[in-house]
Amino acid sequence: METLRTERLLLRPWTLDDTDFVFGLYSLWSVQQHIGLHPRVMTDRAEAIAVIKRWQGMEHPIHAIRAVTDADTGEIFGNLLLKSIPASSALTPLEPSGDTEIGWHFHPNAWHQGYATEAAAAVLAEGWKTGLDRVVAVTTPSNRPSQRVCLRIGMTHQGRTDQYYNSVSELFVAFAPEA
Ligand SMILES: CC(C)(COP(=O)(O)OP(=O)(O)OC[C@H]1O[C@@H](n2cnc3c(N)ncnc32)[C@H](O)[C@@H]1OP(=O)(O)O)[C@@H](O)C(=O)NCCC(=O)NCCS
Repeated sequence: METLRTERLLLRPWTLDDTDFVFGLYSLWSVQQHIGLHPRVMTDRAEAIAVIKRWQGMEHPIHAIRAVTDADTGEIFGNLLLKSIPASSALTPLEPSGDTEIGWHFHPNAWHQGYATEAAAAVLAEGWKTGLDRVVAVTTPSNRPSQRVCLRIGMTHQGRTDQYYNSVSELFVAFAPEA
C-alpha cells in the first residue's frame, strides 16, 4: 500500500500500535451512529485489534484502508477507506457489488479542519492513478457532514439508492478525469 502525503497529512498503513486510537474512535456513538445497517459502538479492545488485523491483511492492488495522521507530529486523526462495497442481498455475508467505495471516519477532535476532505481528495487522486474509473460513496440520508465531504471532493449526488448494504443511502459518484 502506498503511503500518501498531502500538505498537512500523512496517510499510512494501520499498525497494532494504533489500537488505542482505533478502539477510542469506534467506541464513540458520534462516530458510529451513521456507520453500518445496525450501528453499534465497540465495547471490547479485542475488536479494535481484530479490525486492524483485517485491514492489514487486505492485499489489493488499489484498495487500501489508511490511518490519517498529522504529517509533522504523527497524531492520528481518522480512517480513510477505499474498498469494495457490498451489494444489497438476502445472502449473508453480503457479496461484493463490483463497485469501489470511498469512506471516512474521523475523531471528533479532528473535525471541522478540512482533514477528511484533504485526505479523501488524495485517496481519490491515487485511485485514478492506479486505474479506477469510478468510485462511489454512500451516506445515511441525515449525514450532512459526510455528504459535504463528498461534494467538496467533486463527487456528484445521484439521489437515494437501496443497491448497497441492504439500506437506503444517499449515493455520490466520481469518475476518473479521463473516463
Ligand atoms: C464525516 C466526517 C469525516 C466529516 O468531518 P468534517 O470535519 O465535517 O469534514 P472535513 O474534515 O472535511 O472538514 C470540513 C470543515 O472544516 C472546515 N475547515 C477548517 N479549516 C479548513 C481547511 N484548512 N481546509 C478545508 N476546510 C477547513 C470547513 O469549512 C468545513 O467546515 P464545516 O464543518 O462547517 O462544513 C466526520 O463528521 C465524521 O468522521 N463523522 C463520523 C463518521 C461518519 O459518519 N463517517 C461517514 C460515514 S458515510
